Parts: sequence; C-alpha cells; structure tokens
Amino acid sequence: MMNVLVTGGAGFIGSNFIRHTLAAHPDCRVVCLDKLTYAGNLSTLSAAMENPNFRFVRADICDREAVFRLFEEERPDVAVNFAAESHVDRSIEDPGVFLRTNVIGTSVLMDAARQYGARRFHQVSTDEVYGDLPPDRPDLLFTEETPIRTSSPYSASKAAADLLVLAYHRTYGLPVTISRCSNNYGPYHFPEKLIPLMIVNALHDKPLPVYGEGLNVRDWLYVEDHCRAIDLIIRRGRDGEVYNVGGHNEMRNIDIVRLICRELNKPESLITFVKDRKGHDLRYAIDPAKIHRELGWSPETPFREGLKKTVAWYLANRSWWEDIISGEYQNYYERMYGDRGPA
Ligand code: NAD
Ligand code: DAU
Repeated sequence: MMNVLVTGGAGFIGSNFIRHTLAAHPDCRVVCLDKLTYAGNLSTLSAAMENPNFRFVRADICDREAVFRLFEEERPDVAVNFAAESHVDRSIEDPGVFLRTNVIGTSVLMDAARQYGARRFHQVSTDEVYGDLPPDRPDLLFTEETPIRTSSPYSASKAAADLLVLAYHRTYGLPVTISRCSNNYGPYHFPEKLIPLMIVNALHDKPLPVYGEGLNVRDWLYVEDHCRAIDLIIRRGRDGEVYNVGGHNEMRNIDIVRLICRELNKPESLITFVKDRKGHDLRYAIDPAKIHRELGWSPETPFREGLKKTVAWYLANRSWWEDIISGEYQNYYERMYGDRGPA
C-alpha cells in the first residue's frame, strides 16, 4: 500500500487532492498534516474522515519535532507539500508568515523526507514564480525555462522554496519534483480569492470589488485537473524536474465577474472598480507542453462547464462558506475592502 503524506490537505487544492487520491487509488493510505490556519477547515475533509485509509494530524510544517515524529510513525513513500500561505493580498499586508511557512516549512519537510528515505518529495508551486507577461503578446507563455522573476512577497516565498527544493535534489540527491500551476477554481475555494468571493458577494447582492480596470489576465484551471496532474507527476514524473500545469484558458478578471453575474442572474451594476493591488501582475499564461508530452496530461474541464459546476457547488454548500464568512473573515474583509476607495 502506498503511503502518501499530504501537507496543507485541509485547504482548497490539498483537500481536492485527498478526495481524488482516495477515490482513484483505493490501495493508497493518505495522511494529512495541516495546521488549520484561517484557510484550513476540518469540515472540508469530513468525507475523508470516514475512510479507514485516511488519517488527519494537526501540526505546523515548521514544527520540526512534530514533523519528524509523523515521518517516524508513518514512513511515507511520497510527501506532497500543499501547505502554504497562499493569498497574494495577505502577503502584501504581512510577508513574515509567508517566509516562515512557505520557505522554512518546506525545508523542515525535506529534512524529514531525507532522514526517513521518502521515495518522492513533491512541491506544489505556482506560475507566479515567473512574474508576469505582457497582455499584448499572446505568443509569449511561461515554460519551465522562463526565468524566475517574482512580484509579491507570496510569489517570492514560493520561488525561494522552489530553489531550495532543487538545491536539496542537487546537494543531497533528494528525489523531488515541482509542479507550477496556474489559477485553480472549484469546490472548497476559500472566499478571499476572486471567483468564490464574487459568487458569495453576488449571492448577498453586495458590491463586486474588481481591482483596477479588471483587465489583468489569469489562466484558469479546474481544480480536479490540477489534482490529476499532481497524481501523474508523483507516480511517473522524473526526479529533479519541474512541470508546468495549465489549461490554455486565459481570461480577464472583468469577464469572469460578468460571467458569474450571468450565472447567478445578478445585475452587472454590482461591479465596483476599486483601488488596484500593489505590484499587480498583468498576465499569466502557462505552456503545459512538457507535462502533456511526458505524462500524457491534458485539462478535461472546459471553463464554462467548470464555472457552472463551481457556482452550483457554492449554492448547494452554503453552510460551508457561511461558517467561514461569519467569523474572522469579516475583519479581513473590512481591512482589505473597507476604505479601499475607487480605482
Ligand atoms: P489554501 O490557502 O486554500 O490552503 C493552505 C492550507 O495549508 C490550509 O489548509 C492551511 O491550514 C495549511 N497551512 C498553512 N500554513 C501551514 C503550516 N505552517 N503548517 C501546516 N499547514 C499549514 O491554499 P490552496 O489554494 O489550496 O493552495 C495550495 C498550494 O497550491 C499552495 O502551496 C499554493 O501556493 C499552491 N497553488 C495554488 C494555486 C491556486 O490557484 N489556489 C495555484 C497554483 C499553486
Ligand atoms: O496563479 C496561481 C496563483 O493564483 C496561486 O499561486 C495563488 O495561491 C492564488 O491565490 C492565485 O493568485 P491570484 O492573485 O492570481 O488570485 P486571486 O484570486 O487573489 O486574484 C485573481 C485576480 O483577481 C487577480 O488579478 C486579482 C483580482 N481580484 C482579486 C480579488 C480577491 C480582484 O479584482 N478583486 C478581488 O477582490
């Protein structure tokens, strides 16, 4: 039985990955280690909790003693690191915790993976490590060879972790892989991020705060497609390699928000243009040719279909997000949007 350690599995993508793995590989044991920060939620894992092949442990990836104890107990074959501070706007507010979790935490996990002989350490990274692309050059895409050139404290911390992962491979021979994916969307997405925030606000007939003119472009991928890519990489990816993951689905923010209004039958007059994000990346676009060629991966969910499924999920799972937005989230929202002012 393959024993897979998933860190950050109570968050958006990690929890989808756990559901995917338990369903696709009944011969897998999955151990989730998560600190349960504001972004982690045990109710997200309630179905997995019923599965005898699943174990949840609450711990911080920076806590060396707790991490080593878990590796000693579980001897995972594979460790997949999703644990991170993941929101760009929060990193602009307070970079420190991003450096701690995203950089130091990754090194602690790799030290344990070395000591206990994991067959693979997989780092879930992001296309943001490549900086941004000019909106008027659709011919330019991020490849694995694109230089690292970060814009935000978040992306700088993720890039630092990537460099450390590659250094552990070169220096210690740790069998590593890295995936750099574009923007995900789908079920269990924390409502501080664009798509779920707009769905939740629209359902309350609240203003839809679009940064700047809404012309920034992101390359959206349905979360299940990302999970399939990681599953393939940890099984068949080559040690020491980076794989870009993306769906050739570039969209301007304003067009996404309009689509959400249409899906929910809400007026576009809810859209409010607010002061832009500092250092706001203009455009992301992934070239996924390598993962397609080497591992046969392709995205399967067209954006319109994925967005419909996502909106339907938020309508059917109100209690999940109502619990979130009734708590500390309100202070966050007030800090971020309260007196932000117009674009
Ligand atoms: P998320 O914020 O929804 O979840 C992060 C999870 O990590 C939470 O469960 C949180 O409790 C946990 N965590 C945070 N700090 C921790 C710590 N110190 N110790 C243990 N657990 C901790 O994030 P997400 O959107 O699911 O992203 C997961 C990973 O994928 C991140 O590494 C992110 O950089 C990367 N990524 C995200 C996207 C995206 O569009 N969301 C795209 C590409 C890559
Ligand atoms: O590209 C991958 C990255 O995608 C991941 O590494 C990050 O973890 C993830 O959070 C995401 O980063 P973005 O900054 O692209 O995602 P976010 O949902 O925060 O914003 C998407 C776009 O929408 C961005 O251009 C900013 C804009 N935006 C966002 C919010 C929250 C708005 O216009 N209004 C908003 O209220």
